[in-house]
Amino acid sequence: MKLSSDMSAIVTGGASGLGEATARNFAAKGVKVGIFDMNEERGEMVAKEIGGVFAKVDVADSASVDAGFEKIRAVIGQERIMVNCAGVGWPMKTASRKRDTGEIMAHSPETYIRVININLIGSFLCASKSAAGMMAIDPMDPDGERGVIINTASVAAQDGQIGQVAYSSSKGGIVGMTLPMARDLAREGIRVNTILPGFFETPIYQQMGPEVKESLKAHVQFPNRFGHADEYGDLVAFLCENTYMNGECIRADAGARMPPR
Ligand SMILES: NC(=O)c1ccc[n+]([C@@H]2O[C@H](COP(=O)([O-])OP(=O)(O)OC[C@H]3O[C@@H](n4cnc5c(N)ncnc54)[C@H](O)[C@@H]3O)[C@@H](O)[C@H]2O)c1
Repeated sequence: MKLSSDMSAIVTGGASGLGEATARNFAAKGVKVGIFDMNEERGEMVAKEIGGVFAKVDVADSASVDAGFEKIRAVIGQERIMVNCAGVGWPMKTASRKRDTGEIMAHSPETYIRVININLIGSFLCASKSAAGMMAIDPMDPDGERGVIINTASVAAQDGQIGQVAYSSSKGGIVGMTLPMARDLAREGIRVNTILPGFFETPIYQQMGPEVKESLKAHVQFPNRFGHADEYGDLVAFLCENTYMNGECIRADAGARMPPR
């Protein structure tokens, strides 16, 4: 699918980080862009800067996702591209002992469920509702392609560290749904791929001190630095444009493999 002004895309989490870079890259190539995000202020700002449309959407809430599609499609039409970038992480062990008192605690069920709801269920809802919309429009090219869905997992889906049980479960679920989703939608000309980012310079790392970032960087092979969000946006664009990429999960991590901690 050649990216052009003939098509539109929706990017969840488009108010920040990888989603924002993806939205900006699409807009630079002429694609009409819609953004789903909970951060209204930044979402509106990015949308205004790129001539796109913002909808305040909680991806974990089915009705909110429906309302977001309705709002954005009314302005830029049915999207042929759906990119899921909205996501959260919350470090906590499966069960742990309090350092000071030795008290034993199980993982907070609410926290686990929240991470799964946003990262996994949110990606599924947006992908499935977007696919249903794409199925109602005509295929575009000699291959009969209707659209493409790109999800964002994480290298933590494969090498989750201590304290990442909720996050890794949610991202592992995204990896697991990629191939069956691609198979479900193959006859409709809709492709599905998932990216597993390593460490990309985004606001997600803002709360971490420089020493934590340095220790993470030590695992990165070449180039030995955090990824630029633009490099993620470029990979998304490649996955849109190369029609032969389907049902695939791709690590974008400069060779990093995560140890237990
Ligand atoms: N940055 C990295 O190194 C890295 C590595 C691996 C995976 N990822 C994944 O990439 C994605 C983007 O990460 P990022 O670094 O750009 O983070 P970010 O925090 O900069 O952006 C995430 C965006 O998602 C939005 N969001 C959160 N919950 C939402 C909800 N319920 N509904 C709608 N929007 C919601 C936030 O408001 C924010 O704008 C996430 O899924 C993250 O897990 C990032």
